[in-house]
Amino acid sequence: MSPAATACIPAIDCLDQPEQLRKILAPAAAALAQGELVAFPTETVYGLGASIQHPSAVESIFKVKGRPNDNPLIVHVADVASIEPLVSDFHPTARLLANAFMPGPLTLILPRSEIVPDCVTAGLDTVGVRVPEPLIARTLLKLAGVPVAAPSANLSGKPSPTTANHVYHDLAGHIPYIVDGGPCRVGLESTVLYLCDDQPRILRPGAITAAEILEVLDEYRIEYTAKNWRSVLRESDRFLPNLNEETVPTAPGMKYRHYAPEAKVEIIPEAEINRQKQALTERLILWLRACDPDDACALYGGIELIEVLDQFAERDLCQHLPVHEDRTDFTKPCVYTYDYGETRNSRAAAHHLFAALRSLDAKQPSIILAPALPFTDVGAAYMNRLFKAAGKEII
Ligand code: TXA
Ligand code: MG
Repeated sequence: MSPAATACIPAIDCLDQPEQLRKILAPAAAALAQGELVAFPTETVYGLGASIQHPSAVESIFKVKGRPNDNPLIVHVADVASIEPLVSDFHPTARLLANAFMPGPLTLILPRSEIVPDCVTAGLDTVGVRVPEPLIARTLLKLAGVPVAAPSANLSGKPSPTTANHVYHDLAGHIPYIVDGGPCRVGLESTVLYLCDDQPRILRPGAITAAEILEVLDEYRIEYTAKNWRSVLRESDRFLPNLNEETVPTAPGMKYRHYAPEAKVEIIPEAEINRQKQALTERLILWLRACDPDDACALYGGIELIEVLDQFAERDLCQHLPVHEDRTDFTKPCVYTYDYGETRNSRAAAHHLFAALRSLDAKQPSIILAPALPFTDVGAAYMNRLFKAAGKEII
């Protein structure tokens, strides 16, 4: 059953008043505990939560999102101690990493316990667990008093939501509550780390990198059971999706085209900065030659790429509009831009990517161009999402 109206709870306004925060979150927590769906903020992206004690609520997550049901959900809890009952083997390495990075943008895949139903894990004998960072999310989880399965709160295939407005756009009328916690700090989903055998590996890169994980393990002199522990983890941090539908990946979610706007997304190859500017210039010239006068193209990039575009506008080849401005002249092709405000900074590029894909797409361009960035630091996570948005198969 779909509730007719969706209420937005402005929890962001109560951050400094714990009592007020609990009060304002109470109806959403009660709804969760009773088996209704609630969208809530995390530091990565907004999640669409359902109590794992209500399999029918979990099943309605799949319906509301249009998500294939062979794609398992991550279970969210308020603190590390609450992971215990969900897993059958909370081994010392897992415990160490949980204590080091949680609350934070890390999901651990561990052998599941009997209390986690099949509909959450898609029948797998493992479960993803995570403790989100924001006080709002942890207060909500604590008040609800149940483990909460939550995928990103977007329609399946669309960019993940990083503001309450994005959630509203996708899910209004289908869920009773959206908890507004402001824009998400990270902007990309959590790092997913598989810890169920002797080859720990990153299934989905995120803000917590292999280097950071290895640093913690080194500090505590963890003995790795597998000889190639380090190389497996390092290598998997660079993981890029193979989007071939035939393959059966370890994280089932990896096989689907994701984050895809309506417009075609094209990646400007990574290169030394001037070569990348050159590549963008050439691509824009090609587009201008082929396009109709009323066509629009969109560019997501740092300051250096926006400068390239200014030159086109100066030569009167096209209009250059920032994404928040509306087009008035349809006699000349137009390029919308979303500037993430820095030069080749993967953290900033990652933070703004999903918001940019959404707001650029709303301008209905025929194509969105975005730069590749080096695979260092959060660059691996940025490139992973960008490749998926572009629907590319990576060899
Ligand atoms: O940051 C995040 O993780 C966000 C917020 C809301 O917490 N959640 C999120 O959920 O991104 P979702 O459902 O959009 O992505 C979960 C990913 C999928 O790729 C899924 O296949 C994988 O985690 N996953 C979940 N449980 C798994 C398991 N038991 N084994 C392997 N992969 C799993
Ligand atoms: Mg998702």
